This record gives sequence, C-alpha cells and structure tokens, in this order.
Amino acid sequence: MYPQIFTAAEGVDQAFLIILGFAVFILVAVTVTMLYFLWRYHYTRNPQPTDIKGSVSLEIIWTVLPTLIVLGLFWTGWTSFKAMRTIPEGAMIVGVEGRMWSWRFTYDNGKTSKELVIPVDTPVKLALTTRDVIHSFYVPAMRVKWDLVPGMDSDAWIQSDTLGDYDIFCAEYCGLKHADMITILRVVDQEEFDTWLNGEEEPAEEKLGMSLLEDFGCFDCHSMDLSEDAAPTLLDLGSREETVVLPDGTEKKIRPDEAYIRQSVRDPGAALVKGWDDMMPPYGDELSDAQLGIMASYLLKGGQGKDKGQALADELGCLGCHTDDGSDDVGPTFLGLYGSERKGKTSDGKPYVLKADDDYIREAILNPSAEVPEGYDDQMPAFDDLDKGSVDQLIGYIRSLGKKDAE
Ligand code: CUA
Repeated sequence: MYPQIFTAAEGVDQAFLIILGFAVFILVAVTVTMLYFLWRYHYTRNPQPTDIKGSVSLEIIWTVLPTLIVLGLFWTGWTSFKAMRTIPEGAMIVGVEGRMWSWRFTYDNGKTSKELVIPVDTPVKLALTTRDVIHSFYVPAMRVKWDLVPGMDSDAWIQSDTLGDYDIFCAEYCGLKHADMITILRVVDQEEFDTWLNGEEEPAEEKLGMSLLEDFGCFDCHSMDLSEDAAPTLLDLGSREETVVLPDGTEKKIRPDEAYIRQSVRDPGAALVKGWDDMMPPYGDELSDAQLGIMASYLLKGGQGKDKGQALADELGCLGCHTDDGSDDVGPTFLGLYGSERKGKTSDGKPYVLKADDDYIREAILNPSAEVPEGYDDQMPAFDDLDKGSVDQLIGYIRSLGKKDAE
C-alpha cells in the first residue's frame, strides 16, 4: 500500500486489510463450497435428490455468524474513523477553500497559500469550505478524504511525523478542470515552517512606504484603489502614462518615475496631472529625502497594480478559468478585455451590450450572474467577499493587459 504518514489514520489501513481479508476468505469459501456441491451432487453420484425441510440450528448459525462478522467489521471501521474525527484540542487551524479549480489555504496570521505547508509532528485542523460546488479534499498519504459542501462548514485534521511533499487531490468530480485541482502538502520542520509563515510577507520597506504615506496624510486625498475624490489615485502609478500641465499651461505626457514623484511632493504645482487643481500643499523639510525615496519606490513597485493584481488573480484561482494570453478557456481571456465591447444576457435573460470598464469588471467579479457574456455559462462563483482594494487590484491588472480598442 501507498506509504502512510498519519498516525491517527493507521486504523484505516488496518480496517481495509481486515475487510479485504474477510472478503477474500468468503469469496474462496463460497466458491469452493459451490464447486464441491456441483461435484458431490452431480446426478451420476446422487441420482435421488433429497428434500431437506428446514434446520433451526443451521438458520441460527447463518444469521448470527454473519451478523457478528459484519458488526466486527463495522467496529474496526468505526474505531479508525473515530480516531480521525477526534481533532486534538489546541490543533493549529488552517482554512481550506476549494473552488473551481484550485485550492487556497489560509493561516492564522492571514497568510494565504496555494500549497498546504504544515510543521512536522503538529496536529493541524483543517476548516473546509467551498466557494462553489462540492469538492473533496483528499490526501492519499494521510488517508484523509472529506467533502466540501456549499453552505456547510466541515473539518478534518492531519498530522505527520515524516517530512516531505505529498499530493493533494480533489476527489469529487466538480466540472471541466476537476483533474487540475491538484496541489502539494509540504511537511517541514518547525523552524522552516515559522520562517515560511512569517516570511514572504510584505517586506519591511513596503510596510514602511505604506505607513509613511499614511503618516503624512497622503490617503486623505489620494487612494490606493481606483477611487478619485480629491486627487489622482496612486494605484498603478508605475505603469501609468499621465498628461501633466506645466505652470505655463503647456501639456506634456510623462510616465511617473521617482524624479516625478519627488517633484510632485516637494512642488506639486510644477507639473500637475491634467484635470486636477493645484491644491496639494508642498512638503518640505518635514519629509526627508530618504523617506521620500521609500515612498516613491513603494508607489512605483509595491503600489503597482499589475504585479499585485496578477498575484491576486493567480491566488484567487481566476487564472484557472481565464487566461492572460488571448486564448479562451472556460471563461473569457483577460487579454484585451478591458475597454472591449461585451455582449451577453443579463440574469433575467435580457441581451446587453456594454463596454468593459471598471464598473463592468467590478460587477463581473462581485456578481457574475448579473451579466453573462455570450458563449459562456453562468458558472463563475461570486467573489462578493473581496474587499474593495482587492477588486481594484484585479481591475488594475486586467486593465494593464491592454485594450482592444484604441482610445
Ligand atoms: Cu474540485 Cu473536483
């Protein structure tokens, strides 16, 4: 049998072997008896058939014995099942979300991952949910298989005393790419786990950039999403092209870089983004050059919508159904989607023609059933629990993939 790494699931293999043993024994016993009877009561050996009328003792034996066997088999299954259902107290909790067609694991500290990483020798409770249809979380090496049912919170637990990588499958047919719902369970030592869990978070510099922007009140007027109340959004700054107006009234196309950001903070009026008033106060000595540099690199790098949006689209499983290279999959491709004309039917069957702008894409993410594009099925789950910033990042990402129609 496939090696087994989950102590509490040892009973599963045992129950399997016992049931298999009995099944083979009964198969052989019945077959042998049948062959013997065929031979023994052949008419050449037994020309006069005997009419046997009941036998109480035989009837008791063939009722009681199978009952005991079945109860015994049930017992072996039940005890191993119970061991797997008794989640140790204080187990580390990891959220497991299944959706068409990928997995997402969420840790206590908010970290999310496409792979399940757990420390060795530590009981882990899995909180299982699905976003759309029924999936089944299956780790063959753990003998753990549990269904994720829409609207139901289920759980399971695992623990491994062996380091290594193990397969995770979806064991319930869930649509076209069911077979792609594969990921990895990585069992690592505690030290590596801690590094993994706490690493890869936003690098310190990014955090610093964000907190500087907060401290200096930048977000009182600017947003990091697509909303623009009092000032241009800072989202996607590094991948944007802006028209700026110089003090003498001439217009110039620029790509915001560090020099531009520095200038905009020290002397906002020197090159105003077209359409905005010169109302931002210049920042002088209260903001050091070093601080300004951190903010600028954060905005140009960390604040850039494309990478984050792409990472998010990948992590949320969007790219399981949508491509970014123009090939159509289960859902429309993201390439050239932004700004294109979308045709389809609304949820009540009315045809629509719409331009794929921010609002259209936002609706398509939050409430995909409302407008289903022509040629596609209404099968995307609603991502209505996404916060606004995340939706904006996704929109920014799709927008960054280009427009079909020139403006
Ligand atoms: Cu999910 Cu099959």
